[in-house]
This record gives sequence, C-alpha cells and structure tokens, in this order.
Amino acid sequence: MSTLIINIKQLLQVHDTNTTILKGSDMKKLPIIENAYLYIENDTIIEYGEMKDCEGFNPETTINAKGKIVLPSWCDSHTHVVYAGNRTSEFVDRINGLSYEDIANKGGGILNSAKKLQETSEDELYEQSIKRLNELIKMGTGAVEIKTGYGLTVEAELKMLRVIKRMKQESLAKIIPTLLAAHAIPSEFKSKKQDYIKYITEELIPKAAELNITNYVDVFCEKGYFDIKDTEAILKAGEAYNLRPKIHVNQFNILGGIALGVKYNALSVDHIEELNDADVEALKGTDTIPVALPGCSYFLSIPYTPARKLIDAGLPLAIATDYNPGSSPSGNMNFVVSAACVKLKMTPEEAINAATVNGAYAMGISNMYGSITRGKKANLIITKPMNHYSEIPYAFAHNPVEQVIINGQILD
Ligand code: NIG
Ligand code: FE
Repeated sequence: MSTLIINIKQLLQVHDTNTTILKGSDMKKLPIIENAYLYIENDTIIEYGEMKDCEGFNPETTINAKGKIVLPSWCDSHTHVVYAGNRTSEFVDRINGLSYEDIANKGGGILNSAKKLQETSEDELYEQSIKRLNELIKMGTGAVEIKTGYGLTVEAELKMLRVIKRMKQESLAKIIPTLLAAHAIPSEFKSKKQDYIKYITEELIPKAAELNITNYVDVFCEKGYFDIKDTEAILKAGEAYNLRPKIHVNQFNILGGIALGVKYNALSVDHIEELNDADVEALKGTDTIPVALPGCSYFLSIPYTPARKLIDAGLPLAIATDYNPGSSPSGNMNFVVSAACVKLKMTPEEAINAATVNGAYAMGISNMYGSITRGKKANLIITKPMNHYSEIPYAFAHNPVEQVIINGQILD
C-alpha cells in the first residue's frame, strides 16, 4: 500500500535525523516545510520534501492536501480510557460546592469508578473503552498510553490489563499499557493501609507482570492516597519486574514524588500542578520528562502546571489529556494543545512539540512516533483548510482535524 500526499500547505515537525525529545529553548523550534509532499509505503514514512521536488512516485492513492496542514498524530502519554460508566453526579456535586477531596472522602471518586468497574463484565468494559478510543483517534490521536488503576483488586486490575491488550490487538492506534498499581485505598483497607501496600507489592505486581502486557508502573503519590514511603515501596516492587515508573505527582500537594521518581529513573512524572524549585532541580540532567495535564486543571478548577518554569529551566515538557471519568472526562488533544497555549503560556510551537515528539518520549516510543522522519510510522493528521498551524490552538474547542492516517491506513 502506498500513499502520496501533495500540495501540503505546511508540513510540521520535520526532522531529517531521528529526534526523540525537545528540551528548553529547542521546544520553541518547530521545523516545517511550506508547500510540501509526503510519501508513505505501508505503515512507514518514506520520503518528503518540497512540491517542486515531488517526482518519481507511483502511489496507489494520492491525497491532495491543498490549503491544509499535515503533522504527526497526537501522542497522548497519559490516559485512563478504560473505565466503566461515568461520574456525572459527582460533577454536579462539584458545581454545587463540593471539592474533589470532599467527594473522595464520601467514598466517591476513584472508589466509585472502581466499584462500577468491578461490577462490569470484561466484554462490556471493552465495548465502552474501544468506543472512547475510536473517538479520540478521530480527533487526531495516533498513540496513547492507557492506565489500569480502577480495579483496586488483583482480579479487576488483570481484567483491565486484558481489556487493554484486546484494544491493542483490535486498534490501529499505538497503545502503551501502564499498570497503575496504587490509585486509591479500598475502604476495607482504610485502617490497614500497610496490608494493602503488601497486597500490591506481593500479589498485584507479580501477577500483572506475569501477563507480560506492560513495562510501566504508576502510583498516585498524594496526601490521602499513597505517601512517599508507600510510593517508594511500590516503585521498588515494580523495579524487580522491570517496570519503569510513570507516576502521578504534585497534583494537589508536593510530597517529594518528583525526586523519588527521578531516583527510580521514572520515564515521566505527571500532573505537577504544584511545583517548587527543588522539583525543578531534581529534574535537571535526567531522563525523566514532566507531563502537564491541562484538561484536569480545567475540569477541577485547580492550578495549571507552571510550564514556563519547567521549559525556561531547560527542561522538556509533554502534554496529555489524562482522559478519565473523575478529573478530565475528555480525550481531545486539540483542546489540550489550545489550553497549553492559553493557560500554560506555551507558544503554539512548544505546545505542538509537547503533544507530538515529547508525548511519544513520555511513552518510550519516540524512536518510531512523534515526528515526520523517514522510517518513522505514518501516523498523521491532515487538518481542515487553514493558513497557519497557529490556528490549531487558536480556535479552541474546534476540531481542526479533517482526516487521519494511522499505520499508513487512511481512516474515513
Ligand atoms: O490523573 N489523580 C489521580 N488519578 C486521576 C483521576 C482519577 C479519578 O478521579 O478517577 C488523575 O487525575
Ligand atoms: Fe491520571
């Protein structure tokens, strides 16, 4: 199968050599080719360049992208797409004045989603989740991390992992599963948290590792959930099974999760609505990427990640949706890119870099995804007609995507 895209107004994120992460001031650079072509064979980007040099191809399909922009598909490195039902009643409770914490203290929140998930059959959970995934693919996401974490028992967590595995087999999108081993403390363990930590480290992690589906482990490192000591015990247990941390830190409180993540060579530390100077120092010179989740800040009305502080310190930054029923019930990366500009004060170039190559890095796949590079996977967005890529974040809450190509396949 071969496809030639011609007359592309702007081809974005073009790197001749395999760029896998952009840091600090390099995030302001977004290499583009004006009036470009792109040639794909099977699932791979083969060639690209200026239209005047477009010759010698004999493609099965030609797409005329006149007046349109082509860029790599969004790489959404933090989601909880697999969940059961929703939490609209808590949404209304919050409008009426309760906080996220109040709701959790009443037994709502993650425990509410866990109960629903435990009661939902594996097939039904798959159907609900694949529907959400298909919706976000249409909005331009081509690679996505999916966490467990709404199981809270070995049985339900393994069910989640099997659902993610099935989604991986059925979907064209690249899926990176993460074992969110410690998301909340079930009510029956409320007064014996250490027993639950033991259950996670001695039963859940070994059994999940046996399935051989995931390479990553996650913990919600937060007051009222898992403190630094708990988090360290879980990261240590994960390390024994070669599970690299991708952790929830600094959402409401700074507990030292960033430095701990760095100590355990975390691939990413996510949320960071709260940040101090020691956190910034801890990240410098490491392989750990911070990830901002502006949809969560928007939905919970909590601070936005201080992106400028991170980027201006020379660090990389990725942005992701955090798609989940409680704190961010949207998987729309176009909105996230826009919110990154409006609320995190990132330039359109920085936001697009954060949502493509750096998002791919935060999933450990940036050698094959996240940029227009010969040999990388043909996961692409073709936008609606527009004059400049800045219109993508500018027209917030619009869908700029006209067509998507995933693994070289043109989706309707
Ligand atoms: O990333 N913060 C922890 N986990 C999710 C929210 C979970 C929920 O409320 O269901 C998050 O925001
Ligand atoms: Fe999350």
